[in-house]
Amino acid sequence: MTTVLQGKRIVLGVSGGIAAYKIVELARDLTLAGAQVDVIMTRAAHEFVTPLTFETLTRRPVRTDVFETWTESEAGHVSLGAEADLLVIAPATAHVIAKLAHGLADDMLTVTALACPAPVIVAPAMDHHMYLHPATQENLRTLARHGVRVVGPDEGPLASGMVGYGRLVSTARLMDAIRATLGAHGPLSGARVVVTAGPTREPLDPIRFLSNRSSGKMGYALAAAAIDAGAQVTLITGPTALRPPSEATVVSVETAAELAAAVHRAVDDADVLIMTAAVADYRPSTVAEHKIKKGEEDLTLRLTRTTDILLSLSDRPGLLKVGFAAETTSLLDYARDKLRAKHLDLIVANDARTSMGSDEGQAYLLRPGQEAEAIGPAPKEELAATIIDRVARLLAARRPVAEER
Ligand code: CTP
Repeated sequence: MTTVLQGKRIVLGVSGGIAAYKIVELARDLTLAGAQVDVIMTRAAHEFVTPLTFETLTRRPVRTDVFETWTESEAGHVSLGAEADLLVIAPATAHVIAKLAHGLADDMLTVTALACPAPVIVAPAMDHHMYLHPATQENLRTLARHGVRVVGPDEGPLASGMVGYGRLVSTARLMDAIRATLGAHGPLSGARVVVTAGPTREPLDPIRFLSNRSSGKMGYALAAAAIDAGAQVTLITGPTALRPPSEATVVSVETAAELAAAVHRAVDDADVLIMTAAVADYRPSTVAEHKIKKGEEDLTLRLTRTTDILLSLSDRPGLLKVGFAAETTSLLDYARDKLRAKHLDLIVANDARTSMGSDEGQAYLLRPGQEAEAIGPAPKEELAATIIDRVARLLAARRPVAEER
């Protein structure tokens, strides 16, 4: 799977807190995603996790001492920081945060931080009172002023037995922050992208609804790929079992009408709309106030058309619109019809029977007046990266025109 992590050099600074064990998983995930991960541990971190654990997972030597490496190819203590694409310090103890804020450099981690021109992410983890102490708070503000991105901490049960602030954020949230930081200057940097995902639910009575098989995977993958490319993303999502991406503004909706209202609000200042959601075309004409009781053998439902959201945005030529066509027959013909009828810049056509709910997919990309481009079969993350690449190209081709106006 190719993401913004592929081939990136990430220095992972681990300081001495019990949360250090959680960073083992992060080091593994980053390595599996194709990043080169160099771990620097403070002496105190050795008390919680062994260097061998990190070395086994990253296949790279772990550094602790300033003077242990100084070869022709590596200028020892400064080379790691100088060559990194990103420095992540997690967990960051109150002591390490204080040293970073004041530019102290008395070990490999703090020396590397001073010598690192790349973006820096700090994820604090400590006791509740230590975190809330004015000294720590001031030090964190200082780091933020220096351009450091501080992620967390979360509130919850702490190692001390207390419940409060000071928990290291989840690995997933750190991963999201890392991807967003690495992608910040990507091809969609500065662009605002609205992605819709998942199914809608149209209520029949207080406990029943009409819905469809959409899992939301494609939409969520597109949101992640757009963040990787530097976009500011709003994800409008129907009910799914997926984890909401922490770097997107997430709006949860249920019905097609709620989705339509949310899209209209979100596209006001957006550059791109990607309609991945499987929107219900019909809703029950009336919603029963109470549970519908069993009666005759046959029950007829009366349905009413919902608003076609993409069509309702035809009067917005400035908005780059991407639609999806999930069909079970005559795929390319139906997709071309939708591309034209809904005034889209791009439509992604796929076979609903194989793509819905699956982790993999295969699709055709159609643009007005152009040949279809086949993509996949590939994991949805990869398809999403390709679609976002094409969206970025379309937007770039259009930007000079927008600037002339
Ligand atoms: N769409 C929309 N509003 C709707 C229904 C669909 O904006 N009320 C969007 C979908 O999100 C998708 C595209 O239109 O990007 C095509 O959706 P699809 O369900 O394949 O097509 P329909 O226009 O609903 O036509 P049909 O159901 O007849 O295939």
